[in-house]
Amino acid sequence: MKQIILDHVSFRYPNGFLANEDLNLTVSQEEQVAIVGQNGAGKTTAVKLMNGLNKPTEGTVFINDMDTKNYTTAQIAKFVGYVFQNPDDQIFNQTVYDEIAYMPKYYKYTEKETKRRVDEAADVMQIREYLKSNPYEIPYTIRKLVTIAAILVVRPEYIILDEPTAGQDLRGIRLLEELLSYLREQKIGVVTITHDMEFVADNFRRVVAMANKHIIADGSAREIFSRDEVIKESKIKRTEMGMVAKELGLGNDILNPKELADAAERRLRS
Ligand SMILES: Nc1ncnc2c1ncn2[C@@H]1O[C@H](COP(=O)(O)OP(=O)(O)OP(=O)(O)O)[C@@H](O)[C@H]1O
Ligand SMILES: [Mg+2]
Repeated sequence: MKQIILDHVSFRYPNGFLANEDLNLTVSQEEQVAIVGQNGAGKTTAVKLMNGLNKPTEGTVFINDMDTKNYTTAQIAKFVGYVFQNPDDQIFNQTVYDEIAYMPKYYKYTEKETKRRVDEAADVMQIREYLKSNPYEIPYTIRKLVTIAAILVVRPEYIILDEPTAGQDLRGIRLLEELLSYLREQKIGVVTITHDMEFVADNFRRVVAMANKHIIADGSAREIFSRDEVIKESKIKRTEMGMVAKELGLGNDILNPKELADAAERRLRS
């Protein structure tokens, strides 16, 4: 089975700051995993270890059977695509088309194959009408979709999405949910960092919570949200419905409106 493995991994930035300490995590290509946790917990640092942008200071990161220490970031990018938290850190071409075509050209795909793939990725992200636009002149929400298409286009085995829902409207969130189904069908593994707990509860079976350089919990959304100490330590919020349910004393593991309604009905009947 294909997997990304973090084996006792620590990471220290060149200025000496220790951002990840002794992380142990295995993500298989068949999984979609959400990483949650307070600002500065070390989430982005950790996912950059998964695509070779960061190389561990201690421990080993394996992508399938490759030790990332022995490969360049460009070599790893074929297997693990990373969509940056801030699209402006990723975008550098003058048109949306060129931005999405950059990696296929870098890997020397033919012009025809490049165009076919760019069109396909643009269709998945529903941004075909923007292909001729300057990426700096389109709305932030669309720009973020461009950066996803620019990774999708080489069909990596895993995709890492760093805060994809940040700043997205409802349409953007629906589109991201469709993207997750598409990636599931295509058997592309997904690791998503997000602060949006509704998005987590609605879409992810596995949630990894981080706090202060460490992974502090790894389980289903229900397990994570039902643990008060994890919520507190990782400074995440329950879903809106989860918070209401807890306030009303209807349980601490409610995730969505349906579950809240069911719990309220049970209470009324009892
Ligand atoms: N290049 C760097 N040099 C030194 N320290 C850094 C660097 N980048 C990040 N850090 C520090 O490492 C810690 C973890 O940062 P990281 O970006 O991984 O957190 P995060 O969990 O992704 O936070 P957020 O939710 O705000 O994106 C923070 O304290 C941050 O200030
Ligand atoms: Mg981050």
